[in-house]
Amino acid sequence: MKVLLLGSGGREHALALKISQSAHHPELFIAPGNAGTGLCGTNVEMDPTNFWEVKKFCLEKRVDMVVVGPEEPLVRGIYDFMTDDPGLSHIAVIGPSRMAAQLEGSKAFAKEFMLRNGIPTAGYREFSLANYEEGLSYIRSLPTPIVLKADGLAAGKGVIIAQSHVEAMAEYEMMLQRSKFGEASRKIVIEEFLTGTELSVFVLTDGKDYLLLPEAKDYKRVGEGDKGLNTGGMGAVSPVPFADATFMEKVRTRVIEPTISGIRDEGLVYKGFVFFGLIKVNDDPFVIEYNCRMGDPETEVVIPRLKNDIIDLFLAVDAGRLSGIVMETDPRAATTVMAVSQGYPGHYDKGLQIDGLEEMNEEGVHVFHAGTMIQNGKVLTNGGRVLAVTSFGSSIAQAVSTSVKVLGKIYYPGITYRKDIGYEFS
Ligand code: AMP
Ligand code: GLY
Repeated sequence: MKVLLLGSGGREHALALKISQSAHHPELFIAPGNAGTGLCGTNVEMDPTNFWEVKKFCLEKRVDMVVVGPEEPLVRGIYDFMTDDPGLSHIAVIGPSRMAAQLEGSKAFAKEFMLRNGIPTAGYREFSLANYEEGLSYIRSLPTPIVLKADGLAAGKGVIIAQSHVEAMAEYEMMLQRSKFGEASRKIVIEEFLTGTELSVFVLTDGKDYLLLPEAKDYKRVGEGDKGLNTGGMGAVSPVPFADATFMEKVRTRVIEPTISGIRDEGLVYKGFVFFGLIKVNDDPFVIEYNCRMGDPETEVVIPRLKNDIIDLFLAVDAGRLSGIVMETDPRAATTVMAVSQGYPGHYDKGLQIDGLEEMNEEGVHVFHAGTMIQNGKVLTNGGRVLAVTSFGSSIAQAVSTSVKVLGKIYYPGITYRKDIGYEFS
């Protein structure tokens, strides 16, 4: 069996490792991959949003399954491109259809879907230049802070939390009248700010049934104590101690099940991961956002905790027979600590040599590569987020201390990481 995995981050390295461990012994290709995925299979220089190139590769190599890591190819419709083509329709594509990927690709689509299906989320309204003045009145009517969201994909930057009405109106004007996020902010969603603690919940679905994966919490701020700028994620923990059985039952009945039945009843084709960005307000879950893929760095703790053969799961998703499968998970705590480039999430240099990786064979530790590349046999930095060091432990604190200890043996100029991931749980 031949599998093509699209993407190049820590998420893809974690998925690549898991796929490479399958009893199906798949031949794995990763496009474009990184220095770490190259240890699990063959990296292929290819842009995952260039569908014609993907098609050519799949035909040339006789690929049986395509697993899509990031959102962009999904939102652009890679699922439909592959499955609508008679020459490619035998290939299993793990991901949602273009229409279903709108759950991530359009905030307005996601909010309307939640409203139709009775899924708890913040109160909101949609605005564009056509109803610009009404937006100003809506902003005035809300208490602060006020949340403004560009409708479309904006490379993770399209959400503004305005602390005052004046700031909200200024952002509103910049988004709608001055195209702050280009095409993505032609339409925007304005919503109420919810106060609570966030967590990420994941399911794998075939569009009818679903399997619940371990939940996770990610740490988005660059600095310790959750200070400083927002990033793609500086670390993650799983399980999440406050996501106890009572809370998860509410998540299941109020959020996951209405979402999956909404997908089914509305005829959305969905064969992949659903990421629920949740917030716990008092003791109740609300949906902040949907993503149509796994999270990064959450994948680096969720997938190592998964005991099932991931290819078995993907084959069941493709065949629409998830209902009989039982998820098995490692009960231990898993944490990941992300090593980033100096200056991230602002300007940073690339191409710096990473040393100390060869000694990393500790039991219960995975050094996942995120932004790395290989040149003349040397591993170099190639992005803001460089490595995600995942460890298991009997507690979150113990697992984090192992990750931090391992990172102490790795070096590149300006290596930066948070030592306090999971701090509120120790
Ligand atoms: P992003 O990951 O860029 O979509 O950022 C979204 C982040 O904005 C979430 O992780 C929340 O921290 C925050 N956020 C979004 N919507 C709300 C809301 N209605 N109330 C409170 N925080 C929100
Ligand atoms: N960790 C958040 C995300 O992947 O969007």
